[in-house]
Amino acid sequence: MTTRISRDVALAASVLSNDGIIGMPTETVYGLAALALNEIAVARVFSTKGRPTNHPLIVHLSPRDNIERWGVLHEIAQTIAKAVWPGPITLLVPRTRLVPDWVTGGRDTVALRIPSHPMAIDLLDMVGDALVAPSANRFGQVSPTRAEHVLQDLGDDVDLILDGGPCEVGVESTIVECISESLQILRPGKITAMQLAEITGLPLTNDEGPSRAPGMMISHYAPHARVELCTSLDEATERGIAYESKKISYSIIHHDDLTKYALSVYDELRTADLEAVQVVLAVMPAAEGIGLAIRDRLTKAAAH
Ligand code: TXA
Ligand code: MG
Repeated sequence: MTTRISRDVALAASVLSNDGIIGMPTETVYGLAALALNEIAVARVFSTKGRPTNHPLIVHLSPRDNIERWGVLHEIAQTIAKAVWPGPITLLVPRTRLVPDWVTGGRDTVALRIPSHPMAIDLLDMVGDALVAPSANRFGQVSPTRAEHVLQDLGDDVDLILDGGPCEVGVESTIVECISESLQILRPGKITAMQLAEITGLPLTNDEGPSRAPGMMISHYAPHARVELCTSLDEATERGIAYESKKISYSIIHHDDLTKYALSVYDELRTADLEAVQVVLAVMPAAEGIGLAIRDRLTKAAAH
């Protein structure tokens, strides 16, 4: 069977309800979705990605779901949820007894997120239950931001790809650990520490120790081309000229506009591979706003 790209949400819901797995649009990146409570389908998500089963998955809920079924949100977590959901933030909270070990890798916490992509919400409402959805790429590789990327990466290993157009954010959700009163950002995203501090009135730290979110190892989001980080466009141009003289092919990734940079960074890393470029010279964006998330992903892509 060849995998179809479709805009038919009802069809996607029926594939999921019949033990299937699908590519699903969200506002951040495309996810590889399965019903969270379907052990066999979730096992297929892990095997399709080639992801170790102790790397837990994010549980995606509809705005109409009862969040307390899945996790325990303390007051500050609830404040964040109210301010940002539906939207690109994942809250790591103590899990309830409903949450199976095959979702959390046996941990006593669960990652929850209500996405804002209208098609994702329609899909969640139509299936009527939570969906796990890691990014729909093979383990360690570049995340997909278009339906075609999912097809290129996973092909016939998924039953359907729901096409919701290009993702609006382009990098994965911010992950905030809300276990104790002191909040920690485990993965930077569009919603920044500064915004969260404003929402909660509390200081927030970016987790700089050994990552407590498994799967966020040093090398990740990596294309086949070697990625080199540059501090300015001038530096990238100079290095490019030097490569050219050695007949080494290269491309440069750079945008002054941080929103645009986030939107296109994964796409451009993929294009470099499609064009079989040997070196990607990535100009590091300003360390502010979503620039922090882009810097995080580029640093990991360069650690390959
Ligand atoms: O934007 C996003 O979050 C996308 C879209 C599809 O929603 N999803 C995504 O999922 O990025 P994934 O699986 O690629 O990344 C989720 C990260 C992983 O690094 C995982 O280890 C961490 O969240 N995580 C999930 N549950 C966790 C838990 N209980 N404890 C610690 N880390 C957890
Ligand atoms: Mg991922």
